[in-house]
Amino acid sequence: MKIQNKHYTSIWDDGAAPASARVYIIDQRWLPHRLEIEELDSLEACIRAIREMHLRGAPLIGAAAAYGMYLAALEAPAEGWRAFMREAAAQLLQARPTAVDLAKAIREQTIVLQKTNDRGQLALRHLAKAREIAATSKEQCRLIGQHGLPLLQALSEKKGVRLNILTHCNAGWLACVDYGTALAPIYAAFDSGLDVHVYVDETRPRNQGARLTAFELAEHGIPHTLIADNTGGHLMQHGMVDLVLVGSDRTTRTGDVANKIGTYLKALAAHDNGIPFYVALPTSSIDFKLTDGLSQIPIEKRGEEEIHYLYGLNEKSGQVERIRISPANSPAANYAFDITPARLVTGLITEHGICKATEEEISKLENHRP
Ligand code: MRU
Repeated sequence: MKIQNKHYTSIWDDGAAPASARVYIIDQRWLPHRLEIEELDSLEACIRAIREMHLRGAPLIGAAAAYGMYLAALEAPAEGWRAFMREAAAQLLQARPTAVDLAKAIREQTIVLQKTNDRGQLALRHLAKAREIAATSKEQCRLIGQHGLPLLQALSEKKGVRLNILTHCNAGWLACVDYGTALAPIYAAFDSGLDVHVYVDETRPRNQGARLTAFELAEHGIPHTLIADNTGGHLMQHGMVDLVLVGSDRTTRTGDVANKIGTYLKALAAHDNGIPFYVALPTSSIDFKLTDGLSQIPIEKRGEEEIHYLYGLNEKSGQVERIRISPANSPAANYAFDITPARLVTGLITEHGICKATEEEISKLENHRP
């Protein structure tokens, strides 16, 4: 995707040979005000970037963790390298708990580790796997866009005028390696000439909607309107939303969806108003072991400071600054995700096509062969 007409992915390496390949990300904490590229130059830097959300979004967290294993391989000692790598995997796994792509990437890299007997081959193999995971993720998102496009075309045809889509958080290319999940069909629709408009939930407390989704859509020239988090229900009651389209951090085999906190409330409002509620996700974010989202998906609780403070541009100084919005002594609770039960989900858009959020349909995706 493009920023000021230059093509970016959200994570990349410079293509050099293993041992000297360098890994880069867009440090998303400063968008939309500053475009900062960060080199992930150590395992520690990678873990910090995931935990402190220099990068975020389920597929991107997975790709970053895969590159984290390459960075660990560069640091592994000659003696005890296997134990070092196992410890690196354990540390990466703990960086963020809800998005299952991270665990999947680490599992794939652990298989690489198990099959490697020569310390000299370690970096090469982990780098190859990281590149493969990133490329696969990118292709999955491209296909999500292609499979979602007919749905948007059909809704648009039915409506006859501009299609209004509401989205929550950032499930665009910044959350993935490229294209996005929920935003991928929107990019495909816009590029094919469909008249689309997106309502963007600001998405407190980290404001991924206000900072990142609005930024992406603006860079692509897609008409959009930023709304406060509590506005969606009102818009839906007044016929101003035709479709709610979000991403997922983890989906159970029964169709329960974990996504950014507040998603559940949008699904309830959509259900009450008879508006389709679709979730776009790569099958890598389905946890086929799980059958009940509420009791089985770990919900990340993050630091109170994310509720108490906001980051934003001081237009006078031109600096990004932190300001406090709450009383000094008020405690806060910061739940990062919630669960939308399958009964509220109209359908899932995956890289293999659209299906219902039911165990019968989702289980077919487990060993999907084209
Ligand atoms: O806390 P974040 O910003 O990592 O949460 C991201 C989301 O909730 C996205 O909607 C989700 O990862 C699906 S995206 C591609």
